[in-house]
Amino acid sequence: MNITIRELRETDIEALSRIEAASFSMPWSARDFEDLLSRSYCIYLVAEVDGMVAGCCGMTNICNEGNIDNVVVAESFRGQGIAQKLMRELIALGESMGIEAYTLEVRVSNEVAIHVYEKMGFVSEGVRPRFYEKPTEDALIMWRH
Ligand SMILES: CC(C)(COP(=O)(O)OP(=O)(O)OC[C@H]1O[C@@H](n2cnc3c(N)ncnc32)[C@H](O)[C@@H]1OP(=O)(O)O)[C@@H](O)C(=O)NCCC(=O)NCCS
Repeated sequence: MNITIRELRETDIEALSRIEAASFSMPWSARDFEDLLSRSYCIYLVAEVDGMVAGCCGMTNICNEGNIDNVVVAESFRGQGIAQKLMRELIALGESMGIEAYTLEVRVSNEVAIHVYEKMGFVSEGVRPRFYEKPTEDALIMWRH
């Protein structure tokens, strides 16, 4: 299995929208991804496995703080370390740009994602009550300093 991590391209958007729709109750649309491409303060990475788009993760740089969002891997590619590889590359890229602190939100029930984020050095620093819809759920606020 040949995993490549690279920056998001316009040609990834169709595949990523399908992965989003299958993974989230409130998925990003193709338009949401298209908007990212024109924003220099957004960094988005894609995982390609043997030429197929397998997942992505991204970050918005707000005053040298990285707000991470949309960490997702297609169901058929999960459990092979792809999310961890994406996150490692995203943080390395952020560090090379001077970003020292990273934050994200995650559903309190999302044990797999929380495990991945803890492995990447994130710690829980609070709860945002009822942050998510469909279904309503609290968000864990995690930081990596
Ligand atoms: C969360 C997600 C991105 C993880 O992607 P992935 O490529 O499968 O993740 P990885 O393979 O890098 O790592 C998965 C880790 O979770 C662990 N894991 C699996 N099931 C678990 C469980 N029930 N509880 C805790 N950890 C679990 C695996 O053992 C592995 O850890 P390890 O490397 O220490 O053994 C993927 O499940 C996904 O896309 N989910 C739907 C979208 C989502 O919830 N995104 C996060 C939004 S905040």
